[in-house]
Amino acid sequence: MNRKRLAVLISGRGSNMAAIERASQAEDFPAEIVLVLSDNASATGIKTAQDAGIKAHAIPRSNYESKSEHEAAISEAIDNVNPDLICLAGYMRLLSAHFTECYKGKLINIHPSLLPKHKGLDTHARALEAGDKKHGCTVHYVNAEMDGGEIIAQAQVAVAANDTPETLAARVLVQEHRLYAQVIRELCSD
Ligand code: GRF
Repeated sequence: MNRKRLAVLISGRGSNMAAIERASQAEDFPAEIVLVLSDNASATGIKTAQDAGIKAHAIPRSNYESKSEHEAAISEAIDNVNPDLICLAGYMRLLSAHFTECYKGKLINIHPSLLPKHKGLDTHARALEAGDKKHGCTVHYVNAEMDGGEIIAQAQVAVAANDTPETLAARVLVQEHRLYAQVIRELCSD
C-alpha cells in the first residue's frame, strides 16, 4: 500500500499526534506521520514522537522576528517532506490567510467542541457554563478564521450533571483520539 504522508503540528502534550501514530500501526491504515513540528521547544510531544521513531523538532516562534517569517520556516519544513495532509493537533497558534490558502484542502484541525459552538479556548468550562447537554469535538478544514473552516466530522459526548471541565475534557479527549484517526483514515483512502 502506498501510504499517504502526514505532517502533524503540535504545541504541547501531543496526545492526538500519538493517537494518530498508534492508529497508523494498523497494517491497513492508509497514512503515516513523516514529520512532527512544534512551535514550542518544551512541547513534550516532540519526545513522544521521536521515541516512536518519527522525525520531530521545534520551530519556536521566538526565533523569528515576525509571524510571516515563522510561518515561512514552518512551510519550508513541511514542504521538505511533501505531505499529503497537514494535521494540527493541539497547535495553539492562529495561521495566516496566506498559510491556510497555500495548503487549502490539505490542512485540518481537531477542536474540542461541537463547532460552531465554543470556538477558541476553555471549551469545556464554557460548555458547562452554557448548560449544554451535549459536548464533543470536531475535525475541520482550517482557514484563517479561528476554528471557522468547513466541518468534516464530529463526535458527541453527553454532559453529566456532576461534570467538571476536567472530567468533561477527559471524556472528549477519548473521542478526539478516535475521531481524528477515523477522519484521517477516510481522507487518505483512495
Ligand atoms: C486537544 O484537546 C485539542 O483538541 C486542543 O488542545 C488539546 C491538545 O491535546 N486543541 P494534545 O496536545 O493532542 O494532547
